Amino acid sequence: MNMKTLTQRFVAVFGVLVVLGIMGGTLHAPAQAQQINPTAEAVTEDSLFEALRDDQMVAGRVSIPDELSSGLIKPGNASWADTHTSTVRILSILGVVGALVVLTGFYLIRGKIMVDSKLSGVRILRFTAVERFAHWLMAGSFIVLALTGLNLVLGRTMVLPWLGETAFSTISVWGKIAHNYVGWAFMLGLIMSFAVWISHNIPDKVDAEWVAKGGGLLKKGVHPPAKKFNAGQKVIFWSTTLGGAALSFTGFMMLFPALAGTQADWQFYQLIHGIVAAVLSFIIIAHIYIGSIGMEGAFDAMGTGEVDLNWAKEHHSLWVEEVQKGEAAQDGGPAKTPHPAE
Ligand code: HEM
Repeated sequence: MNMKTLTQRFVAVFGVLVVLGIMGGTLHAPAQAQQINPTAEAVTEDSLFEALRDDQMVAGRVSIPDELSSGLIKPGNASWADTHTSTVRILSILGVVGALVVLTGFYLIRGKIMVDSKLSGVRILRFTAVERFAHWLMAGSFIVLALTGLNLVLGRTMVLPWLGETAFSTISVWGKIAHNYVGWAFMLGLIMSFAVWISHNIPDKVDAEWVAKGGGLLKKGVHPPAKKFNAGQKVIFWSTTLGGAALSFTGFMMLFPALAGTQADWQFYQLIHGIVAAVLSFIIIAHIYIGSIGMEGAFDAMGTGEVDLNWAKEHHSLWVEEVQKGEAAQDGGPAKTPHPAE
């Protein structure tokens, strides 16, 4: 065998060995794969959570302006959610239940506030159609927002158990959509109410006497003078205006997180939104009570727009004088009697 043949045979044997080696490796591959435990090898969510500090996060990439939405895992959010949810939950329960307890106590002690001089049957225009439209737009939308907001905060613990999963998820999905859209109607009602009533809600010295006499609400037969709005109503007006503005601003920021700044800013807005909603709910429940079943003759002001003259004299004596003087000036004679009700 010459050298050339020897070399050719060596190359051939080597080639066969290489091919067999590759095939052997390939044939062994599944056996090796079976030994891999993907669950053990993979990074678990827990280990990611443990590896991150509260202010760090695992983020992806997004091409929309809302960069916050790229966040995938941020342990700080879990502790934030606990703080936020428990604070807002407690305040919401206190707001609603607290108001109901206070009002029940008030009703048991004072009873319904009646017109002491009895209804006269003579009516006087208190609120125009525009004023009533502004009020009901703001009031109706606030009630929808309050109920759907409460469902977001307390629904899972308080509504789900007695409604069941199917009904609860349906009302929650629609409730969330309503909450996002009805907010705009509330803002419009708020702006309109502010525009029509601001001039009557500047605090003045008459308010001090009204407050000193407890607004006449605590004792029968006490009727401190008041203009179109008394001090108590001014509190309602300013709470609604400022609270409503705060709710609108923070709600807007939550709807458009790209405008909200950092994530900490967004969380701050979320907390303020919940706290203001709870406090305003307390105030508004008290307002609804006095404006409906709590005081004889009050609802008419927002119903037909006309109230009984004796009701008006007892609760807004200076306003009645102003209206009658205005009418007298218009007629060029003494104050005319408002038209009797049919
Ligand atoms: C069913 C619910 C409600 C009823 C029955 C009701 C009733 C009334 C009545 C009768 C008045 C006129 C009082 C007067 O003649 O002096 C009034 C005024 C007013 N309401 Fe309401 N209201 C309701 C809901 C709301 C809500 C939800 C808000 C705010 C979000 C609101 C804000 C106001 C404001 C700012 C005024 C003017 C200031 C005042 O009178 O206190 N109301 N409401």
